[in-house]
Amino acid sequence: MQVITNIKGLVQVLPSSTRRVKGKDMQRLKVLKNAFLLFDKGVILDYGSMRKWTEMAAAYPRIKETDASGRFVFPTFCDSHTHIVYAGSREIEYNDKIRGLSYEEIAKRGGGILNSCDRLRKASENELYDAAWQRLQEMCAYGTGAAEIKSGYGLDLKSELKMLRVIARLKASSPLTIRANFLGAHAVPREYVGRQTAYVDLIVKEMIPAVAKEKLADFVDVFCDKGFFTVKDTGRILDAAAKYGLRPKIHANELALSGGIQVGVKYGALSVDHLEYVGPAEIKVLKGSDTMPTVLPGAAFFLGMPLSPVREMMDAGLPVALASDYNPGSSPSGNMQFVMSLGCIRYKMYPEEAVHATTINTAAAMGVSDMLGAISKGRKANFFITKEIPTYEYMPYSFGGNKVEKVFLGGKAI
Ligand code: NIG
Ligand code: FE
Repeated sequence: MQVITNIKGLVQVLPSSTRRVKGKDMQRLKVLKNAFLLFDKGVILDYGSMRKWTEMAAAYPRIKETDASGRFVFPTFCDSHTHIVYAGSREIEYNDKIRGLSYEEIAKRGGGILNSCDRLRKASENELYDAAWQRLQEMCAYGTGAAEIKSGYGLDLKSELKMLRVIARLKASSPLTIRANFLGAHAVPREYVGRQTAYVDLIVKEMIPAVAKEKLADFVDVFCDKGFFTVKDTGRILDAAAKYGLRPKIHANELALSGGIQVGVKYGALSVDHLEYVGPAEIKVLKGSDTMPTVLPGAAFFLGMPLSPVREMMDAGLPVALASDYNPGSSPSGNMQFVMSLGCIRYKMYPEEAVHATTINTAAAMGVSDMLGAISKGRKANFFITKEIPTYEYMPYSFGGNKVEKVFLGGKAI
């Protein structure tokens, strides 16, 4: 049994039954002042005012206490969209980008995802595991307690399975809560250039059955966008995945009004991600669904993409989630504090909205909002204590640096 006492502000207190926060409700954030947080066996037991704790404390004579005077406690971030299993980095394209080449032009020249694919195929499982482990550690130090991780740099059966096995090992060994997403349809590999349908056949007939047989994925992903996979390809892949109970979480509408949102919703996607191109038709489709609209501010920032209409989506009553998209090509950072800052600075989200978007709503986007994403009785004791900061708004305001002092996952200090 442990308790955190004298918490200046206990942020994101929600009822145990809340699974997502949408529309105008995102503007309200519950912050308990001068609070305590009691937890045991990895689960939150109670919270409340210090006055209440003073009355209760005698019943817990040997409890381990951590004093959080001057500090805030937040639930850890859930990062519902990452590609952190990769080999090497891609500063060469970064140079090209600075000189004016677009993401699509770089991809057409054989750079982009295929560049990472060449390197990943050569890397050993252990090398990939060690590099991804480092990235997870760094994400955790910045307050992330859960991550969805995608395959998608292997692009052949052997290499996709290699990536997914790395994710399975991370799942088994890391204190972070991890979910695996099979993204065979990330790009058409070199050996299939000009034969996209044949590559989709391979995904449908060989990759998905093999991935499902080894139970290596929780979800299935497709990059459904201009210049990548079509709505028809996506439907075929999602049909095949549905046979094995793999729910979609897809890349959609980053480069155009691609129909990706519609096909994602049609197949009951847990989330559709990127969403730089969203019009009234897309908002209408999302309104009638449980699919979480997920925006990736780091990628839009890094690539100089148009901004997703986040305010319009929230005004329409939709929830919005913000994730890092940590990957070597479009978002080489997993700093969710910075993602919050970008949400506020560039998308004009209020700090309260940015908290919901990076905690409960990203938890929903990776299917774990019953146990993560908020401070509630019965939820997992995943939270962080900040450094001494004046207000919770300071979190997105002071951008770039690390305001997290100590992270607890499953009730254990990391
Ligand atoms: O989410 N948009 C597609 N895929 C990744 C980029 C991956 C890469 O460039 O390596 C993304 O931005
Ligand atoms: Fe991505």
